[in-house]
Amino acid sequence: MFSIRQFYNSRRSIRSKIRNKTQRYPWCWWSCYCHSGSDVVIHPHKQTESTAKKQLNKRAKRERSSCQAVLEQFDQQYSQELGELWTSARAVLLDPQSWQYGIMLNRFAAVTDITQILQSQGFSKILLQTDASSLLCDAPLLKQHPSKQPEENVSPLLSNYPLDNSHLQLDRNSDTVKQCLQSESSLSQHSPSLQCYIHPYPLRFPSQAHRPGHLKQYYLLNAASLLPVLALQVKDGENILDLCSAPGGKAIAIMQSCTPALLCCNEPDPHRRDWLAKTLESFLPHSLKSRVIVSALDGRCFGQSEASTYDKVLVDAPCSNDRSWLYSTSGQQVEQRLRERARLPALQAQLLKSALSAVRPGGVVVYSTCTLSSSENYTVIETVLKDCPEAEPEDLWEEIVVPFSKYFTFSRGPCSHGQTAHTQFDTVSSYHHRLGILVVPHPGKTWGPMFLSRIRRRI
Ligand SMILES: C[S@@+](CC[C@H](N)C(=O)[O-])C[C@H]1O[C@@H](n2cnc3c(N)ncnc32)[C@H](O)[C@@H]1O
Repeated sequence: MFSIRQFYNSRRSIRSKIRNKTQRYPWCWWSCYCHSGSDVVIHPHKQTESTAKKQLNKRAKRERSSCQAVLEQFDQQYSQELGELWTSARAVLLDPQSWQYGIMLNRFAAVTDITQILQSQGFSKILLQTDASSLLCDAPLLKQHPSKQPEENVSPLLSNYPLDNSHLQLDRNSDTVKQCLQSESSLSQHSPSLQCYIHPYPLRFPSQAHRPGHLKQYYLLNAASLLPVLALQVKDGENILDLCSAPGGKAIAIMQSCTPALLCCNEPDPHRRDWLAKTLESFLPHSLKSRVIVSALDGRCFGQSEASTYDKVLVDAPCSNDRSWLYSTSGQQVEQRLRERARLPALQAQLLKSALSAVRPGGVVVYSTCTLSSSENYTVIETVLKDCPEAEPEDLWEEIVVPFSKYFTFSRGPCSHGQTAHTQFDTVSSYHHRLGILVVPHPGKTWGPMFLSRIRRRI
């Protein structure tokens, strides 16, 4: 068993940065873990009886009817907020058989066979442009900290590009940067290790069962949930906080994208924390155990207990998850969820403020939800911006919406929103883009709902 003391002794340098006032522990459940190095591929057609039974149960669950009371709420709210987009989103949400699934590969497992199966079944890889986005992302930071040497701020990936770094400080629209962004071949040359396959049709792919001692080869997910991780622009050697972490999909995506100095996965709910621990155990090799810790704090306290500590913080907030809420099982559950819905924006704003305290000056926070609800998305961002003058929202339009529009349907911005507060920005749309972007499910591109917003802490 790896004790807390041993863990912190081995992580002395990080400990000096991160004040351990919180209840945290390393991957102590790894004591029985032994990674074999090569994993057995589960062929999608060779399912055991129990896997097939589980799938049938899942399907039956999906096919159960939607909840009328929740649907009425959604109709009322979303037809106003999304207009025509709600009609198509509604059709998708009401037809679980149309839902597509993304398959994120695990870079720590052998995946050649699974890649071949995916390709033979018509899956293709999403071009995840993390390299290009990091160029854009770093530019404002450089501008805001002219006293820093460029080398301190620039992504290590930059050295892969034939660029003079000073161009980035002066002109992020320079021809060189543009050329670099437009060149798909240069992107794929430096292709990130975050790999996700999708299919144009709602083809089902079996999930892999948890087997102690074996790493899973892939993680099934809504492909839009990778966008917050891309927006976070994680880099090797950073200290990263995943404030609301269970069941751990985005933590796994972060670990596919970089090798952080530390990834702290926080989850206050004990059952969900067990689930998170199992996910980490299933996807990450033993050699990374010193870099990933699980903590159990209420996320609202993190900012106070670990102020200015992290380079990046992800707030994948608890929200009124539209997909699952629409399939609420009992009247009691509906009542409880609708009551909870009214309380969520306040909790979300508190979590976001806490994240802004936990991130270091110059660092970024990405806030995300899987609801279409404006009051849990744009309004939360507006509320926090009003209270936190050090927080500066960043426009994700060019970086995420433009390159990913071929895969996802994005809303153009909130309809009945932000009428007064946009004076500091050039235009209404620029203001809306800075508040965040929203992926709306659409037939054929059923990904989402997913809202994301990136906020930089200036001071
Ligand atoms: C949307 S889920 C996170 C999903 C996760 N990021 C992933 O990608 O798998 C939100 C999580 O926030 C947790 N949560 C609820 N209240 C919280 C709080 N006060 N502080 C931190 N996390 C909280 C919930 O238990 C839930 O696991």
